[in-house]
Amino acid sequence: MNRQLRCIQCDNVYPLDDRRLRCSCGGLLDVHLDLEQHASSAELVSEFARRTSSDAPCDQSGVWRFRELVLDLPANELVTFPEGRTNLYALDPAPFGLSALWAKHEGENPTGSFKDRGMTVAVSWALHRSARALICASTGNTSAALAAYGARAHLPVFVLIPNGKIALGKLSQALAYGARTMQIDGDFDDAMRAVEQLAASHDLTLVNSLNPFRLEGQKTIILDCFMQLGASLPDWIVVPGGNLGNTSAFGKALIEMKALGLLSTVPRLAVIQAEGAAPFARAAERAFSHLEPIHPETIATAIRIGNPVNYSKAVRSITFTHGVVTTVTDAQILIAKHELDRQAIGCEPASAATLAGLRRLTSEGIIGRGQSALLILTGSLLKDPETTMALASGHVANLGIALSPELDACANPPRLVPSDAETIFDIIREELS
Ligand code: F0G
Repeated sequence: MNRQLRCIQCDNVYPLDDRRLRCSCGGLLDVHLDLEQHASSAELVSEFARRTSSDAPCDQSGVWRFRELVLDLPANELVTFPEGRTNLYALDPAPFGLSALWAKHEGENPTGSFKDRGMTVAVSWALHRSARALICASTGNTSAALAAYGARAHLPVFVLIPNGKIALGKLSQALAYGARTMQIDGDFDDAMRAVEQLAASHDLTLVNSLNPFRLEGQKTIILDCFMQLGASLPDWIVVPGGNLGNTSAFGKALIEMKALGLLSTVPRLAVIQAEGAAPFARAAERAFSHLEPIHPETIATAIRIGNPVNYSKAVRSITFTHGVVTTVTDAQILIAKHELDRQAIGCEPASAATLAGLRRLTSEGIIGRGQSALLILTGSLLKDPETTMALASGHVANLGIALSPELDACANPPRLVPSDAETIFDIIREELS
């Protein structure tokens, strides 16, 4: 399939291998696919389905299985684990008045977040284009994914992260996989500005979601759900919003799937932001007249972002899908996390914003009774052990959150016991009674 880089603002086009990060007008670039050229939608679906039973790494990958809609690269050049083989869990829809509810667990990717789907594409492309070194800004997960894919590609990796406010699981991954890690005196938005400047003026390949190849990989979250749900999608897709890469990628996937005839009706996107880090929700209240950057604060450090780079692509997604953007408090995020954790699905705080957001949108009647919804859980529970422990030990005050009866009920602290079987059994008997 023919591909070009195309500006989403002025439609200017550039060859696919152009190294610029933005259009000369400053607009964001898309990898634009010439969909006219393609096989029928029925042929595509049966080919995607056939590949699930193939042993080839490019078919085993839940990203490259959809390569017609991702990128054409020779199979032996792919930097893949493989990734993207994540489960779709059915949850109880009754408490929300829904007809069906699913959670897609992107925390089951090789490095524990959805970032692997974008990173396999961005790093494979960078290797194909003989990149010298890779760089990103990150709230944690992107740096972990880049560190891993960079190591597999034998390319040097540089990551810029905020000093503090980064979950331990993520930082330890980046260090362990060998990324040169720089903690900057600033937040994610400062780091993002710095890496964009560095990549624009030096021979460093930027792999944040400003890199349009990342988004081509992240589109496969939608394609994968579509195949797992028998070539269909629910009424609503609920996703947390930070730098708005997923929001942008999902909208692009849905635009392309509609154009290919894979979908008759388009699901609506619901983007959920943390109350203290909600520049996109605030812009939605102004009918997207403009984005006002803010100083973000939330316990969901993955989405502690005040100036999302993908803003204009995300607006396109909301417009195309008649989507909504809403916010939830940190306390609501923690309660939702506890609910998902107790179902042994588990996730990091940013992911749980989806369940909290679903609760808000169903109680407000925006997601209607009898509709179906899909939550995108973006990261693994193991990414952020500090928050899980604060919740379990009843110390949410350490996170700056006021204790409430609901949060208190989430506690499950470990008990110190003597090493004596009889005493331990007394405790067990008491618990079971
Ligand atoms: N959930 C998790 C677990 C994330 O790590 C991120 C983003 C998001 C949601 C938000 O996704 O940016 O596509 O809107 N993490 C980035 C990082 C920013 O650096 O790891 P988005």
